[in-house]
Amino acid sequence: MLWRKNLTTTNDVITVENLSKSFGNLEVIKNISFSVHRGEVLGIIGPSGSGKSTLLRCICQLEKVSGGSVSICGSTMVKDGVYAEKNELRRIGLDVGLVFQNFNLFPHFSVLRNITEAQQIVLGRDKDHSREIAMDLLKKMNLETKALSYPCELSGGQQQRVSIARALALKPQVLFFDEPTSALDPELTGEILSVIRDLAKEKMTMVVVTHEMSFARDTSDSLIFMDGGVIVEQGNPREVIETPREERTKAFLRRFNKN
Ligand SMILES: Nc1ncnc2c1ncn2[C@@H]1O[C@H](COP(=O)(O)OP(=O)(O)O)[C@@H](O)[C@H]1O
Ligand SMILES: [Mg+2]
Repeated sequence: MLWRKNLTTTNDVITVENLSKSFGNLEVIKNISFSVHRGEVLGIIGPSGSGKSTLLRCICQLEKVSGGSVSICGSTMVKDGVYAEKNELRRIGLDVGLVFQNFNLFPHFSVLRNITEAQQIVLGRDKDHSREIAMDLLKKMNLETKALSYPCELSGGQQQRVSIARALALKPQVLFFDEPTSALDPELTGEILSVIRDLAKEKMTMVVVTHEMSFARDTSDSLIFMDGGVIVEQGNPREVIETPREERTKAFLRRFNKN
């Protein structure tokens, strides 16, 4: 369909069309389509088990889709369920970064090595250059004094900032966050949200799965509410959260506000 080409502007960092994913007989993602423009923050909210993590993992190549298409920065990763060849997938994989709920730092590496290791192995950067980049990012995260500490010596909020630095060190075109604050105490949550807010001000393209409703409302440019593997509602974050159209969204937000 040629006309579709015109709809997918070069400003699209992510284009997802009719993505589906099943685990055995369990259909977890059902025909989802959306796009994210350069410099935009897409928020994703929804109950546990609605398929949010699976969606992110599919786009970041940690899971294989069952059907549909995904393009990153104009390059086709998978089209109608057929994947690009290996080298192309590897190249496309470098454009995306993922920050996990539980940090996923290497416990036996120092903070510095957690940030330099992938730069050296994945991008082939030399030691000095990768250290320079790591130290700049640690400064930005207010952690320059922790370079030689080990993850277990840091607070959860500090560990999550290290994992954000690790992801940024690879200079991805888009950064995904999968509930980045849900393993943190409320007082540590704020410091991570403020890092993400700063990245948004710098126009980093991001997709953020979160249960922090006021953050989602104020920081995202667009918001998706997912339930049961489908996008139930999508639009202006303030409208989705404050005046949802769909019953399922209303019910979720009501339940949420009670907690
Ligand atoms: N590796 C897997 N094998 C089988 N089922 C899975 C797997 N990963 C996730 N699921 C199932 O997929 C559904 C969606 O999970 P998930 O994407 O983690 O949802 P969310 O992140 O919204 O909580 C759940 O029913 C979950 O049990
Ligand atoms: Mg999840």
